[in-house]
Amino acid sequence: MLRLQTPLPAWYREAAPEELDARIESAKAALGRRLVILGHHYQRDEVIKFADARGDSLRLARFAAEQDEAAYVVFCGVHFMAESADVLTAPHQQVILPDLNAGCSMADMADAEDVETAWEELAEVIDTEALVPITYINSSAAVKAFVGRHDGVVCTSSNARAVLTWALGEPGGAAGRGEKVLFVPDQHLGRNTALAMGYRPDEIALYDPRRPLGGLDERTVKEARVLVWKGHCSVHQRFTPAHVAAFREAHPEGIVVVHPECAHEVVAVADLVGSTDFIIKTVAEAPAGAVLGVGTEIHLVHRLATEHPEKTVVSLDPLVCPCSTMFRIDPPHLAWVLDGLVAGEVRNRITVDDETARWARVALERMLTIS
Ligand code: 13P
Ligand code: SF4
Repeated sequence: MLRLQTPLPAWYREAAPEELDARIESAKAALGRRLVILGHHYQRDEVIKFADARGDSLRLARFAAEQDEAAYVVFCGVHFMAESADVLTAPHQQVILPDLNAGCSMADMADAEDVETAWEELAEVIDTEALVPITYINSSAAVKAFVGRHDGVVCTSSNARAVLTWALGEPGGAAGRGEKVLFVPDQHLGRNTALAMGYRPDEIALYDPRRPLGGLDERTVKEARVLVWKGHCSVHQRFTPAHVAAFREAHPEGIVVVHPECAHEVVAVADLVGSTDFIIKTVAEAPAGAVLGVGTEIHLVHRLATEHPEKTVVSLDPLVCPCSTMFRIDPPHLAWVLDGLVAGEVRNRITVDDETARWARVALERMLTIS
């Protein structure tokens, strides 16, 4: 989804990297504790080096919720992360996204109105009192608000299992809050998590929002425990079992670690699966000489390779592209928004309206309590 924004002035487009770095440093010094810069692990090195805190989406959401001093939270990440930060910070704090077009194609796959329509269609077949909506944090504030209003919860890739257990219980274990889950928008995280918990493939159904009743028949809807929305991450969906096979052939002793946004056939042949924080920890804890094939965004893979020269860290896909929206955050945009703050002008502020924020906060805070 493209958003209208002020074009970047020529100076920022043409400045040399050292000039931009100097501007950013001097703005940081001038703003002091009034400013905090958050950076997601997928950010490029030229940007992440300025972050006061870096993390996966769970860590950054927590960090934002704990900030009460900084007047300005500059989020080097994507739109849904900045929205969550706005929902979780106090009213006197302003959240800024250096480039408003840093979105997330997966989040765009779940429109709040489509989720609402799906819910209404499902209500004609099943009792939605027993249906728990879960939205991956990679979704708009409007989708989070829908989930909050319907007693549901947000999850991230780090806590999806804990959240699904809260909602559904483990198979054969204690009951959860409901009997079924509608998991939006990442089919892969939903499916991978449910399968890891022990749910059978036939208990998981793919809900296609472009088709009536998700393209499912009534019996399938009634019997499914987990309805996964037909959404995906184009970066992670590129990884295939053939990539894993090629890596294993080249490195028979190698370790394969992938993000749970990868398709299940990739996760099934990986050694380890987890969020970006988990991947970082796995590489850090691997012994010197280890070879790791990683299935996630390329900036993080390259950074891990640089930070651990005593290990071999490679992308499972040699031709992988970066997350093009994360990549929009660059030093020119960062310098431009920071210069604005120094001059008393807030550029590219992300705000969530009060009613949406109220319910999105319910769903986000429920997640923070569960995990
Ligand atoms: P993490 O929760 O692992 O940071 O993932 C966020 C994301 O957008 C992955 O594509
Ligand atoms: Fe969205 Fe995928 Fe980019 Fe993550 S890597 S921000 S899920 S498009």
